[in-house]
Amino acid sequence: MSIPLSHTTRTAFKNTHATRKEIKTFYDEATEDYTFWSQDFNMHFGYFSFGKTNVLRRDTMLNEMNSQVLKRLELLASKQFVADLGCGMGGTMRHFLHRHSLLSMIGVTLSDFQAIEGNKLLKKYPAVIVKEDFRNTSIASHSVDGAIAMESFCHTGHSLKTLKEAHRILKPGKRLVIGDAFLKKTPDQLCLGSSYSYRKLCEKWSLEGLGVINNVKRDLENIGFSKVTIDDISPRVAPSVFHVPFAIPLFLIKKLLKREPIKKQSWDNLKASFYALTSGLHMKDFGYYLITAEK
Ligand SMILES: C[S@@+](CC[C@H](N)C(=O)[O-])C[C@H]1O[C@@H](n2cnc3c(N)ncnc32)[C@H](O)[C@@H]1O
Repeated sequence: MSIPLSHTTRTAFKNTHATRKEIKTFYDEATEDYTFWSQDFNMHFGYFSFGKTNVLRRDTMLNEMNSQVLKRLELLASKQFVADLGCGMGGTMRHFLHRHSLLSMIGVTLSDFQAIEGNKLLKKYPAVIVKEDFRNTSIASHSVDGAIAMESFCHTGHSLKTLKEAHRILKPGKRLVIGDAFLKKTPDQLCLGSSYSYRKLCEKWSLEGLGVINNVKRDLENIGFSKVTIDDISPRVAPSVFHVPFAIPLFLIKKLLKREPIKKQSWDNLKASFYALTSGLHMKDFGYYLITAEK
């Protein structure tokens, strides 16, 4: 069978692995695997805090990351409404809702699996997960007391459109907190090793790309955010990243023992986790940041 030239050309020059369909399929198929990473369904890296977390117990660090994000939102003790843009299974939402009794939340995801299963886990809370694109949500303008994006905006390359939508839904004076990996240089300035890890990371995790940290700060300010603070928390994230080489073989052994097949998306997830580790080792090129910006 011959493959039409147009198809070959498109594939060869394909510069994104992050179409809505690819992201949706990835999370529909691979979300269940995250139980090997976190019993609480935290789909992000952790935050090491001496005395509060245990480097050997991953979930203590993953949940401390949630606490750090919650603290930075500076919510009031009264009724508050917060949006989680790219909410996964709602792990961070449940963490917040458990700690703030007057909080209600909306989570946004592209994955049907996450919306259906995540809503089951949220049953006892005033919260809902909707299947929408965080670049164009149905959330009313100036309606939320806080917005968060934990390792989700990387799927759209921390694009201007993504940041603008977060700005639109926030009430004036309220905060957006982003937790994610970013580039310290433009992709063409990366060394050979970084460049390879970066390409593979984006391909396997369906990421449009990581924003360049200084450019993202400038974009946030141009959109109208003020008091943009950039916290480089890479050393605090490193202990949870170093769990990857241990967690991956354990996951594979469990699957083999149960004689369960390993889906393509699971392989992609495992490979991406490995490339996250190799990227993290290139400290001159990559960093993990918590960004806080006020509308
Ligand atoms: C790595 S998971 C992180 C989930 C969650 N924030 C956490 O830390 O547990 C990335 C999430 O972003 C969501 N996502 C990616 N692109 C999106 C888009 N354009 N609109 C809405 N959600 C998106 C995915 O569906 C997934 O839920």
